[in-house]
Amino acid sequence: MKDAITIMKSEHRSISAVLQGLKELARMAQGAKARPGFQALRSMVRYIDEYPEKLHHPKEDEYLFKRLVARAPEARLLVEELQAEHEEGARLIRELERALLFFEEDWPGGGREFQEAVDKYAEFHWKHMRKEEQQLLPLAQSHLTPEDWKAADAAFAANADPIAGMQERDFQKLFTRIANIAPAPVGLGEPWKTA
Ligand SMILES: [Fe+2]
Ligand SMILES: [Fe+2]
Repeated sequence: MKDAITIMKSEHRSISAVLQGLKELARMAQGAKARPGFQALRSMVRYIDEYPEKLHHPKEDEYLFKRLVARAPEARLLVEELQAEHEEGARLIRELERALLFFEEDWPGGGREFQEAVDKYAEFHWKHMRKEEQQLLPLAQSHLTPEDWKAADAAFAANADPIAGMQERDFQKLFTRIANIAPAPVGLGEPWKTA
């Protein structure tokens, strides 16, 4: 079984890959001469909305944050910051969805606002993930007990849980679909006309 840290980092990599792709597409969409494929943008926004919210953050909150505060009260401030960022992320993603809706309805207007919302969210989430990897994980490694890790490893692997297992599969499908419909060079889809 893969351990919680490996899985957490690999989930961060999946989120980063989609964020990087979305940043690139938001930039390309502004210069597009034909109407951009909004389906790809919508799928990517949905992924970065739902994957952290439904699969990733609940495991961090329950199995890393709460237990770390119980074992090492000095980590409380950092954990509170990270929890607040989970809430802030949910708010920023609503802004991003709104910007995408306006862009889709007002195209070719609204592209710059959408790109700004994407950049803001990506910057925010990268900082958050870096803070978790660079500050939270070392503390967790020094303070969590073997029993804590056993529970965290099982929760992050989640394959024993049919509901979470299904969610993970759903996200893999969505990830594959994004790769298939996103235009080259981000994905395998037809490139958008930019000239
Ligand atoms: Fe997080
Ligand atoms: Fe995270």
